[in-house]
Formats: sequence, C-alpha cells, structure tokens
Amino acid sequence: MFIVLEGIDGSGKTTIGKRLSQYLKSKGFGVFLTEEPTRTWMGMDVRRAIEEEKNPFSQALLFFADRAEHVMDIKKHLDFGDIVISDRYVYSTFAYQGAQLEKIMALEDALLWLDRIYEPFRLDPDTVIFLKIDPRRSMNFVNSRDFREKFERAEFLSRVQDIYMMLAEKYDFYIVDSNRNLEEVYEDVRKIIDKQL
Ligand code: TYD
Repeated sequence: MFIVLEGIDGSGKTTIGKRLSQYLKSKGFGVFLTEEPTRTWMGMDVRRAIEEEKNPFSQALLFFADRAEHVMDIKKHLDFGDIVISDRYVYSTFAYQGAQLEKIMALEDALLWLDRIYEPFRLDPDTVIFLKIDPRRSMNFVNSRDFREKFERAEFLSRVQDIYMMLAEKYDFYIVDSNRNLEEVYEDVRKIIDKQL
C-alpha cells in the first residue's frame, strides 16, 4: 500500500506521517516512511534551487529528477511488501509549481506539462490524504520554526491550497481538517488508513 500525505507548509504532514508510521509498525507492518524532496543529493539540490529562487521550469524539472529516482526506491519497498508513506509527492509539484507557473502561463497548460513529465514513470498512490489548514494558521507554525523560504508566504500558500483543492476532486483525495490539535487530526488519518488495511 502506497500512502501519500499532502498539504501546504506547516499543515502537520511530517508529524502525522511519523505517528502513522509508528502505529503501522506497532501492528506488525513493514513501513517505509519517506519524503520529497528526498534526503539524497538530488533532494539537496532541489532545496538549493528553491533557496536560490531558480526559475519555475528548472525547479519543476529538478523535483521530477528527484522523484524519478524516488519512484524506483518506492517500488522496491512495495515489491518487498512494505507500506510506503510519502510526505509529499507529485501533487506537491502540481500545486506549488502550478502556482508559480501560472504567473507566466495558463494553469491548465502548466498542469498538462507537469503531468506529461510524470507520465512515463508514474506510480500512483493508493491513498492521498490532504491536510487542509488555514494558510494564516500554518504560517504561524512555519514562522515559529524560523524558516524564511519564499514559499512560506501566506498568500502564495493560499493559492497553492486552492490548486490542491482542484486536484482533490480529480484524484479523489481524502481531506482532513488540520485546523485542530494534532491528536484529533491524527485520529482522522488513522481511521482512514484503518479502513484500508
Ligand atoms: P518540505 O521539506 O516538505 O517543507 P515542509 O516540511 O515545510 O512542508 O518541502 C520544501 C518545500 O518545497 C515546500 O515549500 C514545498 C516545496 N515543494 C515544491 O514546491 N514542489 C514539490 O514537488 C515538492 C515535493 C515540494
């Protein structure tokens, strides 16, 4: 089973992913908890491109280079019988790079382009859980961690979340309200996964 957690910065994905991983391990499952950008050198290069505010085309291509390797790794774990939990996946590129690219081209064309890059190595998850949060609230968490990345502006994140909501319909995401304490959010996520085990 391949599970993806998505959401804007500060939505709680990382904490929820860790909790879910511990829970599934305690039930005896093999779990591969992973993330994008990855922790490989390619993932590091992606982070560098974000920090240096490279243009959205090169950023998108770098995210996909990192993902093409990541997909191979995920496949290996799935073949081995593990449950894979990925903190971000291709929908992050659709939403974030979509929001960047729509400043220079139509969103629809941007999403088509991004989808075409993904197509030859696509590996669709079984379940996508989207943690929906008020961007002003998520910004508080981000600020308190003292990150100053460009992406972390509430306005931009608000648009990113709008695009995520369009994707949610197309790709059938589960949407969990993340404007609550993490315990409640986690319980909802756990219930969704429990039903699928
Ligand atoms: P991440 O480390 O997940 O940040 P956070 O834990 O704060 O959510 O991701 C770093 C940034 O990269 C984040 O702002 C989202 C962005 N991103 C994209 O723009 N496109 C992508 O495809 C991915 C995977 C991440």
